Amino acid sequence: MTTENLNIPPVALGTWAWGDGGETGDGYFGSSLTQAGLEEVADKAHAAGFTLWDTAVVYGMGRSETVLGGVLKRFDRSAYQLSTKFTPQVAGEGDDPVADMLEQSLARLGTDYIDLYWIHSPADVAWWTPHLIPLLKSGKVRHVGVSNHNLGEIELADRILGEAGFRVEAVQNHYSLLYRSSEQAGILDHCRKEGIRFFAYMVLEQGALSGKYSPENPLPEGTNRAQAYNGILPQLKALTNKLAAIGAKQGAAASDVAIAWAIAKGTTPLIGVTRPGYIDGLARAISIRLSGDEIAELEALADAARVNTCGWWEKEMRV
Ligand SMILES: NC(=O)c1ccc[n+]([C@@H]2O[C@H](COP(=O)([O-])OP(=O)(O)OC[C@H]3O[C@@H](n4cnc5c(N)ncnc54)[C@H](OP(=O)(O)O)[C@@H]3O)[C@@H](O)[C@H]2O)c1
Repeated sequence: MTTENLNIPPVALGTWAWGDGGETGDGYFGSSLTQAGLEEVADKAHAAGFTLWDTAVVYGMGRSETVLGGVLKRFDRSAYQLSTKFTPQVAGEGDDPVADMLEQSLARLGTDYIDLYWIHSPADVAWWTPHLIPLLKSGKVRHVGVSNHNLGEIELADRILGEAGFRVEAVQNHYSLLYRSSEQAGILDHCRKEGIRFFAYMVLEQGALSGKYSPENPLPEGTNRAQAYNGILPQLKALTNKLAAIGAKQGAAASDVAIAWAIAKGTTPLIGVTRPGYIDGLARAISIRLSGDEIAELEALADAARVNTCGWWEKEMRV
């Protein structure tokens, strides 16, 4: 099985922020979300051909999956693709914690299969990876991938699945202009060579690279992302100004250019979508062509910012 028979649009949709406290908009992201607003996001996304939705049990401890399942009820199951994850850190005590977590995800998402199921972190690759095999055989999981794994861990997971006739079909790692650890570690090259889809998450650094936030207009106070990024917003200004300037030449926004950069690098960006208008940005991003010089200039400015946006749950991919 390869992802060839899985519909993967040029940009995938992330719903971590959907796990926040809903209408109150508190929590990790502090975006104020409403059911009606998220339904509009989904309608616009599907109309534009963006139909692959990523979530995880740990996004609001079930809340993101529940909200997403509710929003997607309006569509036929064949009209979209679901991606969710087994997170080893919250594994239960039963005989098969992976199968148990999958069952809970299926119930919350209101479906009987997941198109793309991930091991969320490389807590113990040799232990957890084999648990995917019966799920693939049962058809409850159609394709599998690994997230936050380094090159050695990706290869190990692939060997384990290979013994049962399956393979690692996708990798999902943090990859943005500011955080190119997976590229430096050879993971992007490996994926290209092996025909493995690389999903780039946090391409917009949770909004810090969107051009919307600045030292004058910081990320919502009291949230985890404010804590992670507000202190470095001054250093990001030259980069976000450049993203905006490149965008202005093509009738696009800074965020569209950041997403176009990730596409130009051969990845499938996985973008957290919180507002209907952001779908227009995805549609613009896929038509932007960046020159080699523009890519080099953006990367040089990103390096000059001298920031490390490695998440608290991540490790550097360089080995
Ligand atoms: N596997 C993993 O360990 C892992 C880790 C992190 C994320 N992920 C996945 O990757 C997805 C993306 O990451 P993320 O959501 O953390 O961060 P992200 O995609 O870098 O940023 C999302 C934030 O950027 C802003 N935004 C999005 N589109 C925009 C646009 N077109 N214009 C302006 N601003 C825009 C929104 O902020 P406002 O709401 O404030 O406007 C949104 O909440 C997650 O939702 C999740 O599915 C996976």
